Amino acid sequence: MGILSFFLFLFFFFFFPVFAQSKNTSFIFEGFNEAAENLTLEGASVINPGGVLRLTDKSKYIIGHAFYAKPIQMFDKTSSSFSPNASSFSTSFVFEIAPPSSGSGGYGLAFLLAPSTQLPGAEPGHYLGILNGNNDRSASNHIFIVEFDTVNGYNEGVDVPGNHVGIGINQIFSVASEPASYYVGNTDHKEEMTLESSEPIRAWIEYDGVNKAVNVTISPAGMEKPLRPLFSHPTDLTGVLQETMYVGFSASTGEKSSFHYILGWSFQLNGVVAPPLNVSNLPRPPEEKDSSSYDAKTAALISALCVVTVLLLGILVYLLLFRRKGDSEILEDWEIDCPHRFRYQDLYAATNGFKESEVIGIGGFGAVFKGVLPTNGSEVAVKKITRNSLQGMREFAAEIESLGRLRHKNLVHLHGWCKQKNDLLLVYEYIPNGSLDSLLFNPKNGVVLNWEQRFNIIEGIAAGLLYLHEEWEQVVIHRDVKSSNVLIDAEMNARLGDFGLARLYDHGGMSHTTNVVGTIGYIAPELTRTGKASASSDVFAYGILLLELATERRPIGSSDFLLVEWVSECQQLGQILDTVDPSLNSSYSPKEMELVLTLGLICSHQRQQFRPTMRQVMRYLSGDDIFPLDDVDWGSAHYSQRESEFGSTLELSSSSTYSGR
Ligand SMILES: *[C@@H]1O[C@H](CO)[C@@H](O)[C@H](O)[C@H]1NC(C)=O
Ligand SMILES: *[C@@H]1O[C@H](CO)[C@@H](O)[C@H](O)[C@H]1NC(C)=O
Ligand SMILES: *[C@@H]1O[C@H](CO)[C@@H](O)[C@H](O)[C@H]1NC(C)=O
Ligand SMILES: *[C@@H]1O[C@H](CO)[C@@H](O)[C@H](O)[C@H]1NC(C)=O
Ligand SMILES: *[C@@H]1O[C@H](CO)[C@@H](O)[C@H](O)[C@H]1NC(C)=O
Repeated sequence: MGILSFFLFLFFFFFFPVFAQSKNTSFIFEGFNEAAENLTLEGASVINPGGVLRLTDKSKYIIGHAFYAKPIQMFDKTSSSFSPNASSFSTSFVFEIAPPSSGSGGYGLAFLLAPSTQLPGAEPGHYLGILNGNNDRSASNHIFIVEFDTVNGYNEGVDVPGNHVGIGINQIFSVASEPASYYVGNTDHKEEMTLESSEPIRAWIEYDGVNKAVNVTISPAGMEKPLRPLFSHPTDLTGVLQETMYVGFSASTGEKSSFHYILGWSFQLNGVVAPPLNVSNLPRPPEEKDSSSYDAKTAALISALCVVTVLLLGILVYLLLFRRKGDSEILEDWEIDCPHRFRYQDLYAATNGFKESEVIGIGGFGAVFKGVLPTNGSEVAVKKITRNSLQGMREFAAEIESLGRLRHKNLVHLHGWCKQKNDLLLVYEYIPNGSLDSLLFNPKNGVVLNWEQRFNIIEGIAAGLLYLHEEWEQVVIHRDVKSSNVLIDAEMNARLGDFGLARLYDHGGMSHTTNVVGTIGYIAPELTRTGKASASSDVFAYGILLLELATERRPIGSSDFLLVEWVSECQQLGQILDTVDPSLNSSYSPKEMELVLTLGLICSHQRQQFRPTMRQVMRYLSGDDIFPLDDVDWGSAHYSQRESEFGSTLELSSSSTYSGR
C-alpha cells in the first residue's frame, strides 16, 4: 500500500507536469449573467440581476472577492525546453466605483493574481481585502496586485494620495503608481480621472513575460485604448507567482465605503492582447441606467442623468430611511408621552438646516436659531445645545417637560424640546426685540431705553422671578439672571429666558469645569463657596441687573471697576444719583431712581441674610412697602467681589472680611 502510493506520488510528481494540459486560458465576460459557474465569489460579492458583478455595496468594513473559478497555469510546461519564465498575460476590464451620494467613498478595488481564492485573515480598508497587518510584505504571499485605490495612503503620508493606480507585489504598498489618468494620443499630456466617479472606467493590465514588464492603462470606458500606457513597470513575476494562480478581483470598504462594480472582463494567457470587450454590451449599475444607445454624447448625457438620478435617489433614501430610522431608533417609550417633544425634521426645516445665517444669538449653552415651524407657521427661537453624552436624558426630559408647563407673561415660553444624537434642541417662543443687554449697550439706531421703559422692565423681571421662586408649583431657581437673558417683547415688556436651564447641568449631560453655574459679575459670593444656587443668589444677580439698568454700566468694567462697589461708594458719600446713566438726560423720577439703585445694592448685598426676597422687592417697587433705607448694614455690602468670583483666595478673603466686622 505504502509503496504503491509512494510510486504513484513519484509518478505524478515527475511526470504530471509534462502531461499537464497547458492551455492558453482565455475568457471574456461582457456582463456576468451567465458567469455564476465560472466565478468563485466570496464575501460581499454578488452578481446582480442586471449582470453586474458587485464586489461591495456601501456597507462599512466589508470585503468582496471574485475569482475566475479555474486556476491558471502561469508557467508554460508544454515546450520541451522547460521555461522558467512566468507566462505573459493580458487582461482588460471595466469597473465602476460609486461613492455614497455625500462625501467620499472607499477604499478601492484591485485586480490580483493569488495562489488561492481564499485569502485568510484579509482585512478591509486599506488592505483592500487582500492582506493584513501581519502578512503584508511577506514573500510567501505570492500575490500580484494592481490596485485602484480611492483613499489616501494606507501609511498616511507614505503611500501616494488616493485616486491612484498602483502595483503591489506581496504587499499593499505600491512599488509603482500613478494618479488616475490617461495619456492623450501620443503626447505627454495626461488627462486626469476620478476613480470613484460612478462612471465606467476601463483598465488594461499587460504582463510581458519575456521583457519582464507590466503595463497599466486606464481610460473612460467609452474611449479607445490610449496609445501610451499610464505606466510601465519593469518587474519579473517569475519569482513571485506560483505554478497555478487564481485571477480575479478584490474590493473592500472601511470607515468610508463605495459600491464597487465590475461590468465586464476579459483575460488572455500567453498573449499580449486580451479579447476585446465591446463596451456597449456591458450592463450598467444600477438597473435603472439605460445602456441601449451608446454614442459618446448620449452616453455622457445618460451618465449625467444617471448620476443625478442616483443622487436624488440617494437623498430620497437618506430622507426616507436614514432620517426616520435615526429618529425612531433613538426614540424610547417614555419619550412618546412627552407632549413637548418636537420632531427633528420640523426643527431642521424651521431653521433652514440650522443655517449660520439664522443664528440670532450665542449663549453659554449654545447657539440660538430663528425659525418658522413648518407645522403651524409660528416663529420660534431654537436653542441648540451640544451635550457630551445623553446620560440623564430621561431626567432632562422630565425637567424640560415641567419647565414647558411654566406660564407667565414675563417668561419666555418654552414650547418644547428635541434630541438628536448629542444635540439637544430647546424650542422657545420668538421674542422680537432681542435681549436687554443689546438694547442697553448696543442700542439700534442709538435709541436709548427711557426710564419708564426701564422701570417697567425692572418690574417685569421681578414678577417673572417671583413666579419662578414662589408662585409656581415648585421652586425654580433661574441661576443665570443677567441682561442677556432678559428678552424684550414687542410691547417692551421684559421676558426672562433660559430659566431652569442651569439645572440641566445637574443631570450630568453637560460638562462644566466647576459646579458654579452663572455669569461672572452676577454670581453671589456664597455660590462660589457652596456651589448651591438659591432664590437668594438669583436676587443677587437681579440686584446687579438693577444697577446695570440705572447706570448703563456693565457689572465688571475694565481694570478694577466693579459696578456694585462704585455705586456703593457713591451711596455712602450721599451721591448715589451721580451714577445714573447720563444718556437718560435727567428725565427720570429721582425717587424711583434712588429706589432702584439702593434696591440694587441691597439685593446684591454680600451677605445673603440682608437680601430681600423677590416678593419684598415687588412690594418695594410697587410702593406697597417703604424701602427701609436706614436699617441696611451697608458696611458689609461691598468688598472684593472679584476675588470671591475668581480667586482661589476666596476662603481667605471672605472669611477675613467677615471676621473684620
Ligand atoms: C463558464 O462555465 C460554463 C460551464 O462550466 C462553460 O461552458 C463556459 O465555457 C464557461 N465560460 C467561460 C468564459 O469560462
Ligand atoms: C525567459 O526570460 C529570459 C530573460 O529573463 C529570456 O531571455 C528567455 O527567452 C525567456 N524564455 C522564454 C521561453 O520565454
Ligand atoms: C508596454 O508599454 C511600452 C511603452 O511604454 C511598450 O513599448 C510595450 O510594448 C508595452 N508592453 C505591452 C506588453 O503592451
Ligand atoms: C498560446 O499562445 C501563444 C502566443 O499567442 C502561442 O504561441 C501558442 O502556440 C499558444 N499555445 C496553445 C497551446 O494554444
Ligand atoms: C458592439 O456591440 C454593438 C451592439 O451589440 C454592435 O452594434 C457593435 O458593432 C459592436 N462593436 C464591435 C466593435 O464589435
